[in-house]
Amino acid sequence: MSFKTIFVTVFLSTALILSAFLVNSYRPPTQVRQPTAALVKAVGKCAECHRTETAAVVYEFEMSAHAAADVTCLDCHQPVEGQTPVEHRGFTIATSLTAANCKTCHATEYEQFLRSRHGAVAWAAVAGPDDFTPEQIAHAETYHPGWVKRPANALARLEGPSAIAAGCAECHDVGRPNADGSIGTCTACHSRHASSVALARQPQTCGQCHMGPDHSQIEIYHESKHGVMFNAQRAQLNLAADPKHLTTADMFVPTCATCHMSGLDGLGVTHDTTERLSYFLFADVSDERPGKAMAQERMKEVCLKCHTKPAIDEYYAQAEAVVESTNEKVGQARDLMNSLRERNLLTPAPFDEPIEFLYFDLWHYFGRTAKHGAFMGGADFVQWHGNYELLATFAEMRELAEELDHADGE
Ligand code: HEC
Ligand code: HEC
Ligand code: HEC
Ligand code: HEC
Ligand code: HEC
Ligand code: HEC
Ligand code: HEC
Ligand code: HEC
Repeated sequence: MSFKTIFVTVFLSTALILSAFLVNSYRPPTQVRQPTAALVKAVGKCAECHRTETAAVVYEFEMSAHAAADVTCLDCHQPVEGQTPVEHRGFTIATSLTAANCKTCHATEYEQFLRSRHGAVAWAAVAGPDDFTPEQIAHAETYHPGWVKRPANALARLEGPSAIAAGCAECHDVGRPNADGSIGTCTACHSRHASSVALARQPQTCGQCHMGPDHSQIEIYHESKHGVMFNAQRAQLNLAADPKHLTTADMFVPTCATCHMSGLDGLGVTHDTTERLSYFLFADVSDERPGKAMAQERMKEVCLKCHTKPAIDEYYAQAEAVVESTNEKVGQARDLMNSLRERNLLTPAPFDEPIEFLYFDLWHYFGRTAKHGAFMGGADFVQWHGNYELLATFAEMRELAEELDHADGE
C-alpha cells in the first residue's frame, strides 16, 4: 500500500468518526444517553408502551435524577395506603398521585414542607379547617396557631365555587388535603417526571403563584439587582447543582430558592419556607413573627455568603422602617373603617360597599407591595406601586367616608 492510500484511508475514517460524533452531538440528549440495562428491565414494560402513548413523559423521566438512581415508574405509581388501586395493563397502579408517594422515599422533605405555610395553612386561607382531620389541624396549629382554625375566606365565598376552583385553588392547593391522608403536592415546584431541582430553582417556578398585585414577588425580583443579574448571567449559573453541595460558585446570584430554601455553602436545605421570615408581611398591619430574631439570623446567614454584615444590617434597618411606616398608614385607614362600622354607616356584610374594596386594595395591594419591595430590592414597588397608591387611595377613602357621614346626617 502506498503512503498516499494509507493517508487517504486514515483521513477518510477520521472524517467519518468525526462526522458521526458531530451528528450524534446534535441529537437530543435523551437519544444519546441510553438508560442502563437494569433500568430498562425495571421500567421496561411501562416505558415500552408509553414511549408511543405519552412519549414526553418517558423522555422527561429518562433525564431525571430518578432514572439515574434506578427509581422506576412503578416505584412512584404504585398505590400507597389510602389510594385506590387500578388494574392497568397487567400492573396495579395509582393514577392519582400525591405527596404521599414522594414521602415514601423523601420523608424529611415532606416533614419540612408540612410545617411550612405551603402546607395546611395555604389551603385553610381559602377554605378554613373543614377539609382537614383533627390530627392535621392539631399538627399545623402547633406551628401556626390560629391560621388553620379560621373561617373560610369571605371573598372566596362571595365569588363562588367555580371562581375558587379555577382561581384560588390553582395556587392554594399546594397545601390541600388529599384523600389518602397526606397534604399537598410536591410537583408544583419539581413537576411530575423531570423531578428537577434546576426547575425548582428557577424564579419563574415560584412565580406561577407568587405574582400579581397582591404578592408581586416575581415582578419585584425581576426588577431587583439580583433579578437583573440572574437574567443576564443565568447561562453561567449551575442551576442543577446537587443541593447537598451547593456553593456560591454554582449560584453567585440568588433566586427565590437561594434565599428561602437552599443550603448555600453548607447551610441546611429547607422545605420550610417559613423558617427564614421575621414579619407577617402579607397581613394588613404586619406584626413580628414568633421567633423573629432566629428567623432573621437564618436569612442573614444566606445574605452573608455574598455580602458584608454592615451592608445587610443597614438594608434590614431600611426595610423594617418601611414596615413601620406602612403599618402606620394602613392603621389610619383601618381606624377610619372601624369608626364607620361603629357608627353603623356600613353594613356588617363584607365586600358589599365600594369603600370596603378601596380599603382592601389599600392594604392587600399597595401596603403589601411596599413591604415586599423593601425586603427584596423592588424600589419601584415601594414607591409608585406602593406608597404613592397608599396616599391616593386613602384620599379617596376619606372622601367616600365624608359622603357616608353626610348621607347619615340628612
Ligand atoms: C401496553 C401498553 C401500556 C403499558 C404496559 C402501560 N401503560 Fe399506562 N397507559 C397506556 C395507555 C394507552 C394509557 C391511556 C389511557 C388508557 O387507555 O388507559 C395509559 C395511561 C396511563 C396513566 C394515566 C391513567 C389515568 O387514568 O390518568 C398512567 C399513570 C399510566 N398509564 C402509568 C403506567 C405505568 C406506571 C405503567 C407500568 C407499571 C404503565 N402505565 C404500563 C398504556 C400502557
Ligand atoms: C417521581 C415519581 C414518578 C415517576 C418515577 C414516574 N411518574 Fe408518572 N406521574 C407522577 C405523578 C406525580 C403524576 C401525576 C398524577 C396525578 O395527576 O395525580 C404522574 C402522571 C403520569 C401519567 C399521566 C400523565 C398525564 O398528564 O395525563 C402517565 C401516563 C405517567 N405518569 C406515566 C409514567 C411512566 C410511563 C413512568 C416511567 C417511565 C412514570 N410515569 C414515572 C410521578 C411519577
Ligand atoms: C422509590 C423512591 C423514590 C420515590 C417514590 C421518589 N423519589 Fe425522588 N429521589 C429518589 C432517589 C433515590 C433520588 C436520588 C438520590 C437523592 O438525591 O436522594 C431522588 C432524587 C430526587 C430529587 C433531587 C433531584 C436532583 O436533581 O438532585 C428530587 C427533587 C426528587 N427526588 C423529587 C421527588 C418527587 C417530587 C417525588 C414524588 C412525585 C419523588 N421524588 C419520589 C427516590 C425516590
Ligand atoms: C396566582 C396564585 C394565587 C391565587 C389565584 C390566589 N392566591 Fe392567595 N396567595 C397566593 C400567594 C403566593 C400568597 C402568599 C403571599 C405572601 O406571603 O406574600 C397568598 C396569600 C393569601 C392569603 C394570606 C395568607 C394567609 O394564610 O392568610 C390569603 C388569605 C389568601 N391568599 C386567600 C386567597 C383566596 C381566598 C383566593 C381566591 C379568592 C386566592 N388567595 C387566590 C397565591 C394566590
Ligand atoms: C416551593 C417549591 C417546592 C416544593 C413545594 C417542594 N420542593 Fe423540593 N426542592 C425545592 C427546591 C428549590 C429545592 C432545591 C434547594 C436548593 O437550592 O438546594 C428542592 C430540593 C428537593 C430535593 C433534594 C434535596 C437534597 O437535599 O438533595 C428533594 C429530594 C425534594 N426537593 C423533594 C421534595 C418533596 C418530596 C416535596 C413534597 C413534599 C417537595 N420537594 C416539595 C422546591 C420545592
Ligand atoms: C402552587 C403555588 C405556589 C408555588 C409554585 C410556590 N408557592 Fe410559595 N406560597 C404559595 C401560597 C398559596 C402561599 C401562602 C400560604 C399562606 O400563608 O396561606 C405561599 C407562601 C410562601 C412563602 C411565605 C411563607 C410564610 O410563612 O408566610 C414563601 C417564603 C414562599 N411561598 C416561597 C416560595 C418559593 C421560594 C417558591 C419556589 C421555589 C414558591 N414559594 C412556590 C403558593 C406557591
Ligand atoms: C435576596 C434574597 C431574596 C430573594 C432573591 C427573594 N426573597 Fe423573598 N424575601 C426575602 C426577605 C429578606 C424577605 C422578608 C423576610 C422577613 O420577613 O424577615 C422576603 C419575603 C418574602 C415573602 C413574604 C412572606 C410574607 O410575610 O408575606 C414571600 C412570599 C417571598 N419572599 C417569596 C419570594 C419569591 C417567590 C421570590 C422570587 C420571585 C423571592 N422571595 C426572592 C429575601 C429574598
Ligand atoms: C448568592 C449571592 C447573593 C446572595 C445570597 C444575596 N445577594 Fe445581594 N447581591 C448579589 C449580587 C451578585 C449583587 C450585585 C452586586 C454588584 O452590583 O456587583 C447583589 C446586590 C444586592 C443589593 C444591591 C446593592 C447595590 O448597591 O446595588 C442589595 C441591596 C442586596 N444585594 C441585598 C441582599 C440581601 C438583603 C440578601 C439576603 C436577604 C442578599 N442580597 C443575598 C448576590 C447575592
